[in-house]
Amino acid sequence: MLAGMSQAHHMGDKSGTRSVVSYVRRSPRMNPSQRNALTRLSSRYLVDVPHSELSTSVAVHAHVDWAAQFGRPVDELLVEIGSGTGDALVASALANPEACLVAFEVYERAVASTVAKLDIAGASNARLLMVDGVQGLERLIAPGTVRELSTFFPDPWHKKRHHKRRLVSASFGELVASRLVVGGRWLLATDWPDYAEQMRSVLDAVPGLHNEYADSGGWAPRPRSRPITKFESRGIAAGRPVVDLCYRRLP
Ligand SMILES: C[S@@+](CC[C@H](N)C(=O)[O-])C[C@H]1O[C@@H](n2cnc3c(N)ncnc32)[C@H](O)[C@@H]1O
Repeated sequence: MLAGMSQAHHMGDKSGTRSVVSYVRRSPRMNPSQRNALTRLSSRYLVDVPHSELSTSVAVHAHVDWAAQFGRPVDELLVEIGSGTGDALVASALANPEACLVAFEVYERAVASTVAKLDIAGASNARLLMVDGVQGLERLIAPGTVRELSTFFPDPWHKKRHHKRRLVSASFGELVASRLVVGGRWLLATDWPDYAEQMRSVLDAVPGLHNEYADSGGWAPRPRSRPITKFESRGIAAGRPVVDLCYRRLP
């Protein structure tokens, strides 16, 4: 177990399940076009891995051969956790045609929309896994291989008793630090001020991570590459400030 992991966020239990996860598994029926997109495009974009009890868990022994998935040698990956309906993933896939992108998203309807968008955009350098991104990062991504990790608008889990479900925690920060290449970046965005402050205070203290904008107030400029999504628009409409953060992996 990584140093500093809380019981609530321990990730390495033998069963392959986590006691507290950052998502609720929603499975409303897909509309016909989403169902059709998944059926047609799964073999091209989805990576299936062995689970334990939950269909969103990743079995302890699970392994993905990324070179086989992308059909070329893979030294580094761009990873997104909670990619939603895929706007940032598609933009990044098109902006970085030489890169191999991996996204974790547990919401089936969102994944169906994402593969349809990737197909329309003609992007062939992205793969999605419908599993818990924390376990996926831990079990399927080798240490020191992620050039960029994105977590945009993670679920805020407002109630205090639910804060332990927030994706960004000290233990998750340590896991991310271990997966980034030296010099690699972690990009975050949120429109919830108390979560933003929590991200800052927790991640500024993670060994091996450096707040790229520590000398200018700590908040990062909005990356031009990050498209405005439904979640960001909602925040703006409600008058909430949207903030970005950028952490770099130190040697
Ligand atoms: C508020 S939405 C934001 C989606 C997208 N990043 C955006 O900006 O539009 C958060 C997404 O993260 C997904 N999610 C939350 N925890 C996750 C986890 N541990 N692994 C994979 N997906 C997760 C949820 O299903 C949801 O689609």
